Amino acid sequence: MTTTKFVAGLAAATALALSLTACGGGGRAAGGAAETPAAGTNKGALVGVAMPTKTSERWIDDGNNVKAKLEALGYKVDLQYANDKVPDQQQQIESMLNNGAKALIVASIDGTALTQQLKDAAGDGVKVIAYDRLINGSPNVDYYVTFDNQKVGVQQGTSLLQGLGILDASGKDAGAKGTKNIELFAGSPDDNNAQFFYNGAMSVLQPYIDKGTLKVVSGQTSFTQVATQQWKQETAQARMETILNGFYAKGNTKLDGVLSPYDGLSRGILNATKSAAIPNPIVTGQDAEKPSDKLILDGVQYSTVFKDTRKLGDTAATMVDDVLNGKTPEVNDTTTYNNKVKVVPAYLHESVIVTKDNLIKEVVDTGYYTKDGVEKGE
Ligand code: BGC
Repeated sequence: MTTTKFVAGLAAATALALSLTACGGGGRAAGGAAETPAAGTNKGALVGVAMPTKTSERWIDDGNNVKAKLEALGYKVDLQYANDKVPDQQQQIESMLNNGAKALIVASIDGTALTQQLKDAAGDGVKVIAYDRLINGSPNVDYYVTFDNQKVGVQQGTSLLQGLGILDASGKDAGAKGTKNIELFAGSPDDNNAQFFYNGAMSVLQPYIDKGTLKVVSGQTSFTQVATQQWKQETAQARMETILNGFYAKGNTKLDGVLSPYDGLSRGILNATKSAAIPNPIVTGQDAEKPSDKLILDGVQYSTVFKDTRKLGDTAATMVDDVLNGKTPEVNDTTTYNNKVKVVPAYLHESVIVTKDNLIKEVVDTGYYTKDGVEKGE
């Protein structure tokens, strides 16, 4: 090699090294694990918050809460919604990394679709918190904050049984005679939570199906048969209409109850029963969304499961603050959430069954929504 070539090569190598160092300071670095930062060093850093959709009220509240809390802790926030489209969410996360985010809070659309983005994040030393929904199949998820999802399902099943008079208010068997006809709905198969909710609900419903107190008239009981892609209200409505036409149209079979895992689906189900002029069956839900709160107060939807997402937002923001400043976040579950690569340490919050009887106490008196909001449903 000539001296000129050697010097030129050296210069190029130096330039490359310098540019990589510069990248590491703000934008993307080319791999290599980052050291744990010392206390206080990341205050003011950018945090990416990836939310799934604006079609449901809860995710709008989640995004706003997380952003406000992070800003109060001194961080800059890039909050993005992906309109339930996986490629949009992947691209949003890539752009957060390119903009130099030091931590990500991610409520995934498809829990298995972010492996490459999270690999890039880990290469940059970016910490990742899975928010409400577990991210599956990736080693690069540091913590998970959620509710006790199995228990949410148990609460949905329990409130269906209570609404049907099979269990009393304290949850004891009420000795009901006869058979109640029900139908079952589950959430989106790409959302890890959906299976947890369904399994939790079936753990309390199955014994009553087995002894004939409950009958699923359509016979559709497997998760695949009852799942609702993307948690779409119109999909649940269409399935309910098909079931009503196929199994209840003759008028001699009464639909008594429907297991629904989310308020949006519950409203679709109730639209279908209303157009078929079927008296309101007992329908469950989740999220205490305002339009469903109104239906509950009006005696149309029977119940929902209230999850105070302010607590979720607070925990997520505190976890970010901890991981960015050399502290270990508090967790209360280190066994349940195996994402098929590792068990992700989690913090689980508690949820509550809400009916007409305690809606004001749980949702309004706690300051979550105003009385006017739940009464008007908007
Ligand atoms: C959340 C539920 C929500 C559902 C649909 C789930 O992952 O845990 O609270 O009802 O998504 O948005």
